[in-house]
Amino acid sequence: MKDFRFYAPTEVVFGKDAENKAGELAAKYGTRALLVYGRGSAVKSGLIDRVAASLEEAGVAVCLFGGAQPNPTLSHAEEGVKAAVSSGADLIIGVGGGSAIDTAKAIAHGAANPGVPLWDIWTKKVPLTRSLPVGAVLTMAAAGSEMSDSAVLTNESVGKKAGINTDFNRPKFAAVNPALGATVPKYQLAAGIADIMMHTMERYFIPDSHAELTDEIAEGLLRVVVKNGKAVVEDSTDYDAMCEIFWASSLSHNNLTECGRGKDFSVHKLGHALSAKYGATHGASLAAVWGSWAEEVYRDCLPRFCRFAEKVWGVNEEDEVSAAKEGIRRTVEFFSSIGMPTSLHELGAEPTDPDFRELALDATMNDSVTLSRIKPLGADDVERIYKKARWSIYHNRRMTGMKLSEIFKEEPDTWGLRGDPYFWDYLAQRADRTGDLTPDELEEWIKKEHLAVSGKELTEISMVRVEQFAHGGMSSGGLSGEWWCDTGIPLLKSRMKNP
Ligand SMILES: [Fe+2]
Repeated sequence: MKDFRFYAPTEVVFGKDAENKAGELAAKYGTRALLVYGRGSAVKSGLIDRVAASLEEAGVAVCLFGGAQPNPTLSHAEEGVKAAVSSGADLIIGVGGGSAIDTAKAIAHGAANPGVPLWDIWTKKVPLTRSLPVGAVLTMAAAGSEMSDSAVLTNESVGKKAGINTDFNRPKFAAVNPALGATVPKYQLAAGIADIMMHTMERYFIPDSHAELTDEIAEGLLRVVVKNGKAVVEDSTDYDAMCEIFWASSLSHNNLTECGRGKDFSVHKLGHALSAKYGATHGASLAAVWGSWAEEVYRDCLPRFCRFAEKVWGVNEEDEVSAAKEGIRRTVEFFSSIGMPTSLHELGAEPTDPDFRELALDATMNDSVTLSRIKPLGADDVERIYKKARWSIYHNRRMTGMKLSEIFKEEPDTWGLRGDPYFWDYLAQRADRTGDLTPDELEEWIKKEHLAVSGKELTEISMVRVEQFAHGGMSSGGLSGEWWCDTGIPLLKSRMKNP
């Protein structure tokens, strides 16, 4: 097991009406609080009034600062710093989800360091040596900001989204009432569930350490989130299920699931670039690229992906690669089942080729750093992951009963972009002549066709010259080659055999 430091100093008060305890919690740390909240729902629901009344009753004066947005911005946080300084606040309390709490953290850092540009603190040009205490009243399970040492801001003037990790980000207290999650819109709820899982998975797959207890905690957390995540998306008033999600949110990002293993967060880097460019909801941006990221790295930590498939999804496959892929498929299908995008297209992003490069450079700080502790991912690798994520490869829709030719016709773009579009088109045309095949016959058929047209065995990833597939008037000019990945075959087979 790797050496580690675990520090989780936040006092958590969890349960119904927990927001009414904000006063007694806050009074330990300050006498004048700036309440930071979002765009009005916390006011309309009466939550801000309840929190303010609790604070005043405990002798803590209250100043209000609303307007925190999803993907909180630097400029708004800077306004908050001014509000905190002018009101003499000695305590900053975020009321809401990760956006409000992250904004509160940023304001606390800025207010304790007047005259220092907040972005200089964020980019570590100026080291952070002091801050104001931060508290949290949580209304939404997602970011885990209520216990975490991280906070993320978007600098809209340069289109960059970045986070900082520091013990000053750890809230002193968190009042957590899961019943407040019932009013969160379904999409945001689902995005929160994806984010919770991601905070755990971004730590889980790091190889080369023995951390059995940490692994079991992470796997248990993921199973609980999958089970209860579905339940709350179907019925957000299911209080017990919502409690599980809220608690998982806090534990997934307070470093408990990295003890002895470490953390990676490369998927977050990819998601941050998407959010900065397209304004995508954080959790949704992660769900959109996770499958492609997993495909890129799973061979470099195969035992981890096998264990994940078995422990989280109950996959029982003897072959390691098949097991790992099935775990990936089920995870992506779960995201899809709760309404999360599993591709950039579904996320609403349609990058051009220059956009793909720009995203990759943003995620890798102009190719100056490599992402991931599983294998180094430079800008070229990241660009490839983004491109793979353009179209969804997994769906929760099944196509039982469809003829092979219909399956091919259903999503030519999707499947074509998984491999060679020309080869796919070639297969689609030939499919009409094959009649209906069993899944195994389908695999054999694709392999045979591949051999026939390319002269090569279809191995795990086969490079295929596009020129070999010039047919039907399609021009092959200008294209030097594409790849065909064997993940297309088991996924296609799974569509045929599953109800
Ligand atoms: Fe996150």
